[in-house]
Amino acid sequence: MTIQQRSPLVVGNWKMHGTFASNSSLIQALLGRIEGVAVALAPPSLYLSATRQQLTGSTIALAAQNVASEAQKGAYTGETSATMLADVGVTYGIVGHSERRQYYGETDALVAQKCLRLQEQGIQPIICVGESLAEREAGQVEQVVSRQLRAVIELCGIEALSQAVIAYEPVWAIGTGKTATPQDAQAVHQFLRQLVAAHNKNIAEKLCILYGGSVKADNAASLFAMPDIDGALVGGASLVASDFLAICHAAKASIVG
Ligand code: PGA
Repeated sequence: MTIQQRSPLVVGNWKMHGTFASNSSLIQALLGRIEGVAVALAPPSLYLSATRQQLTGSTIALAAQNVASEAQKGAYTGETSATMLADVGVTYGIVGHSERRQYYGETDALVAQKCLRLQEQGIQPIICVGESLAEREAGQVEQVVSRQLRAVIELCGIEALSQAVIAYEPVWAIGTGKTATPQDAQAVHQFLRQLVAAHNKNIAEKLCILYGGSVKADNAASLFAMPDIDGALVGGASLVASDFLAICHAAKASIVG
C-alpha cells in the first residue's frame, strides 16, 4: 500500500482567524501557485461565500469548519446547516475537531450525526480523531481513535468512508509546535486503515488519511513520505501563504517517485 495509490490532500483550517481584507490577500497569494495537488481552504463560516467567489475558476476547494447536527433547516439559532454549506459550494466539512470536542462538548455520537448531515448533501466529511497527551501516556491511543471512528461507522455505515476523509490529529500536537514523529503518526494512520480494512479492504485502500498537528513547511515532506499519510490538515501554517504553499508543494512532490 503506497501513497501513490491515493492523491494527497492539503486542507487549510483557518479556525477563528481573518477579516475580509486579510483573507482576500491570503487567497490572492495562493491563486495560480498550486497545481497538481488537491487543496481546500476552511475559512470561518461567515467568510465561506466571499472565499467561494474568490476561488471561482481555481482548483482550490472550499471546506467548512463545522456544521449543524440537527437538521437541514429549522429553529436552530446560530447554526449553519449542511444544506446551506452545499448552497455556497462547500466540498468538505470538518467534523470532530478536538477544539469542538474540548470546548463545545461535542461527543462521538454528535460528530457521527454531523457526518451524516454532510453526506446527505454530498459534502465529504473530514473526520478528526486523536488522543490527548494523558491518553497517549496511558497507552490508550488505539482505544481512543477507534472509539471515535467506530461511532461514525456505526451511525453512517462503512460505505460512508468511501466519501470521507479522516484526519488524525493528536491533541497534544495541535498549535503547540510539537509534531508527532513521522513514525508515530504512521503507526496510528496504519492502525486506522487496518480498522477500516477489517470492514472493507477496498474502501480502506482508497481512504485519504490526513495528519494534523503543527504541520509546517519544514516537517511536511517527512510526514508525507510515510505510506499511510495522505496529506495534512493545517492550522497555524495555513495562515501564512508562503508556509502553506511550501506544504502544498511538499504534498505534490510526494506523488512523484
Ligand atoms: P495546527 O492546527 O497546524 O495549528 O497545529 C491543526 C489543526 O487543528 O487542524
